[in-house]
Amino acid sequence: MSALYKEIGLVNTKAMFAKAFKEQYAVPAYNFNNMEQIQAIIQACVETRSPVILQVSSGARKYADQTLLRYMAEGAVKMARQMEKTLGCDQEIPITLHLDHGDTFELCKSCIESGFSSVMIDGSHHSYEDNVKLTKQVVEYAHKFDVTVEGELGVLAGIEDKVVAEKSTYTRPEEVVDFVSKTGVDSLAISIGTSHGAFKFKPEMCTRNAQGILVPPTLRFDILEAIEKKIPGFSIVLHGSSSVPQDAIATINKFGGALKETVGIPEEQLRKAAKSSVCKINIDSDGRLVMTAAIRKVFAESPAEFDPRKYLGPARTALTVMYKEKNKNVLGSAGRYGKGE
Ligand code: G3H
Ligand code: 13P
Ligand code: ZN
Repeated sequence: MSALYKEIGLVNTKAMFAKAFKEQYAVPAYNFNNMEQIQAIIQACVETRSPVILQVSSGARKYADQTLLRYMAEGAVKMARQMEKTLGCDQEIPITLHLDHGDTFELCKSCIESGFSSVMIDGSHHSYEDNVKLTKQVVEYAHKFDVTVEGELGVLAGIEDKVVAEKSTYTRPEEVVDFVSKTGVDSLAISIGTSHGAFKFKPEMCTRNAQGILVPPTLRFDILEAIEKKIPGFSIVLHGSSSVPQDAIATINKFGGALKETVGIPEEQLRKAAKSSVCKINIDSDGRLVMTAAIRKVFAESPAEFDPRKYLGPARTALTVMYKEKNKNVLGSAGRYGKGE
């Protein structure tokens, strides 16, 4: 059956992940809710020649309106192609539109009908049997349209859409073969110590270094390796992978914010993960922090300013810089589709 996403110029994650696995990097999955975010993501990924997954939660879909979203994604592809023409690029970056944390079959179906090329069905909060059943139902439907599906095993701590998990439950390597073969998923999100949101770890879970700075617990690479042994070559996804930039936290607090001390996933650990079978790394909170810092700075330094372009513009610029840094120095996804910045 023909799928709408192909007409829009989007791709599913199959070839993207195969290349990422072979060349040992991870594809960035950046969440967006509005125009400035999608512009920054596209500009950064075109200029660094990185593949990209434009990621939409159900909350984002409601916020931006599902019809508008479909056209924003279509506009993003057109914008990327125009930029590539102007830059004289001889290859196109692949762009995926992905549902983040889909919680029902109906939501996944609706997204596929409105042009998504990839969906996540997150059944990780259900029993193992119900997770298998729900994931399999989504896979059977999605694959008719050549849409790829991400499943999840194990629970991440933190907030994702309507679900708040107090504690994480690491993925059990002994379950992955059964889950992947019974459901037919194309990629698997796992829990190895990352968590959602800007407040990932309780201070008592961390230690302090000589300078008194919080140091989070190291990710469970032993679990990742055990999973890789069970399903060699299978595409693994890491959620909750924001690094919580300390300069953004400091700027927010300097200009009237009130964020508590916090720490994210260290970049060197994400770099290490990106070189393994982790093919997709999800980042949302870092963008929120960087945007907020830029906007607060304008409001504090230019209190008479009231043109949204004058504060959303700097926020967009700061986001673009951040995404480029991630592609180049953390995920290793820069320069994979021609020579870029
Ligand atoms: O994992 C959750 C994502 O960061 C999306 O967050 O549901 O607030 O849009 P949201
Ligand atoms: P962060 O909250 O760490 O950015 O994670 C985002 C995410 O996993 C989206 O699915
Ligand atoms: Zn997530």
